[in-house]
Amino acid sequence: MTKMFLVLCLLMFVFAVGEGYNLFGEAGQAYSIEINLGLPKQKLNVIVDTGSTTLAIASYPRREHDRYYETNKSTTLEDSGMQIQAKYSQGNWVGRMVSDQVEIPSLNISQVRANMAIITKSHKFFVNGSGWEGLLGLAYLPVGAWGEHVIVESWLDSVDAKLQTSASFELKLCGPRSVNNATHYGNFRVMVSETDEDLDIKYRTPVLHKRWYEVGVLSVRVLANETEKVIMDDKTYAQGFNVDMCRKLNHQKSIVDSGTTNIRLPDALFRQVVNQLKKVVQESNTQYPSNIILDNFWDHAEAACWPEPQQWSLPRLAIDLLSADSDRQYFTLEIPPQNYIRVASAHNSSGESGTVSEFCYKLGLEAGGGETVLGYTAMEGLTLLFNRSAGWIGFKTSDCGPDARITGPHNVTHSITSSCQLITPITDMAISIKAAQWALCVISIVAATVLIYLLAPCVKMLLVKPLPRSTQISMSQTALVEQDIS
Ligand SMILES: *[C@@H]1O[C@H](CO)[C@@H](O)[C@H](O)[C@H]1NC(C)=O
Ligand SMILES: *[C@@H]1O[C@H](CO)[C@@H](O)[C@H](O)[C@H]1NC(C)=O
Ligand SMILES: *[C@@H]1O[C@H](CO)[C@@H](O)[C@H](O)[C@H]1NC(C)=O
Ligand SMILES: *[C@@H]1O[C@H](CO)[C@@H](O)[C@H](O)[C@H]1NC(C)=O
Ligand SMILES: *[C@@H]1O[C@H](CO)[C@@H](O)[C@H](O)[C@H]1NC(C)=O
Repeated sequence: MTKMFLVLCLLMFVFAVGEGYNLFGEAGQAYSIEINLGLPKQKLNVIVDTGSTTLAIASYPRREHDRYYETNKSTTLEDSGMQIQAKYSQGNWVGRMVSDQVEIPSLNISQVRANMAIITKSHKFFVNGSGWEGLLGLAYLPVGAWGEHVIVESWLDSVDAKLQTSASFELKLCGPRSVNNATHYGNFRVMVSETDEDLDIKYRTPVLHKRWYEVGVLSVRVLANETEKVIMDDKTYAQGFNVDMCRKLNHQKSIVDSGTTNIRLPDALFRQVVNQLKKVVQESNTQYPSNIILDNFWDHAEAACWPEPQQWSLPRLAIDLLSADSDRQYFTLEIPPQNYIRVASAHNSSGESGTVSEFCYKLGLEAGGGETVLGYTAMEGLTLLFNRSAGWIGFKTSDCGPDARITGPHNVTHSITSSCQLITPITDMAISIKAAQWALCVISIVAATVLIYLLAPCVKMLLVKPLPRSTQISMSQTALVEQDIS
């Protein structure tokens, strides 16, 4: 009896201490985490978003039952009174900059006082019944929320400042819980010390520009069957690197954005990839009757539903990324159909009238004008390490979620950066962040002195530079805003 009790205790201990999962979300929506704000602590959920920078929280009731940050109840809140705003490709909000105590209970770091945006008004931003009330932006300062003479330091920058470190963070996204439950789960970790553990990252891609996590995506293609792939790899493909494609993919920018659902491709490439997939499905129409997968599924993001879960046996999607080790090297993420055919809903309920079951899927790819966005669809089944200060993102396969693979590195004979016209990676430590902090500092000191007059042109330059309008439009979240009514 005692033995059994001990075993039980041990098991419970293992479950409690073992690597847990602190991210969750409804199907089709990004992954969120629980956060405590202010004193007394208020529990809220925020999306972990690598596509924006500012911690932004709803501070007004949008609908009955929706939670929000009740700022007047927090005794530790400091309100700057300064107006700030953010605009996404769809949706926007306005609010004020405040600072308060922020704690993420599932992380092993203490609470910090951090800047945040309290949202007082929004348009097409929040989603009805989504289970989240804000965003935890994890990108760099130049794409933070903006306002006149305001710089909203990110939560990670506050962590860095308090702990005197350069924090990195890891996202492990696992996808749906089970065939009968479409809610997804994952884990978010912050590493504050460099000796944390051996992270064993073999594949790293450089952050080309420290605003969003801008990376070099060299191609997105449908992998033919395994044998063909072997023939293609390394020899034909690498030597005949499709320069035209990689220029198109990175023409505006390519970003890694956990706040976006789909993989978004420039129009022409989206067509190309989808046509290849359609062709495979048509050729194997015994498995997927074409009268069920309608064109709207491929072209207009419509869901396709079946009474039982589907085993997708479509080819993998390959995403080639520039390697951080050499400008003549790349590696390949091989994404199975379980990633790019997303589970939109899964119902299996048995009542008195029998069992009602419906399993719906949506294409995890979309066309997006000129941009490339690797949304969380491209990350499930992988673990990504974002080394913010060093400016690279590491990839490894993970122990949960779809069976994504990584291959490479593959060598090519020419410089990828120049043939694909990528920006040269910045090696300097967080230039933009330093510049922005500097600007504030310089302004407050100098303002009191006669020097202001002499330095006026420089000050103006410093002030204006970190906050140009054109860099503020985050693409994050656009997939989430359809149902908003606030
Ligand atoms: C929002 O959610 C509530 C409660 O879940 C529901 O009653 C209402 O119809 C929803 N509104 C929209 C626009 O979906
Ligand atoms: C799916 O799993 C989550 C988390 O375990 C749970 O809260 C939720 O009720 C489940 N949904 C269904 C439909 O079973
Ligand atoms: C981030 O990069 C720096 C510099 O290369 C390195 O010292 C540090 O260990 C890295 N952090 C993590 C968590 O890998
Ligand atoms: C759905 O539920 C029924 C009855 O509870 C069960 O027999 C069936 O296996 C379930 N289907 C799936 C796909 O789990
Ligand atoms: C690729 O190039 C690296 C040096 O940059 C070399 O060490 C490696 O052996 C090469 N790999 C192949 C498969 O040729």
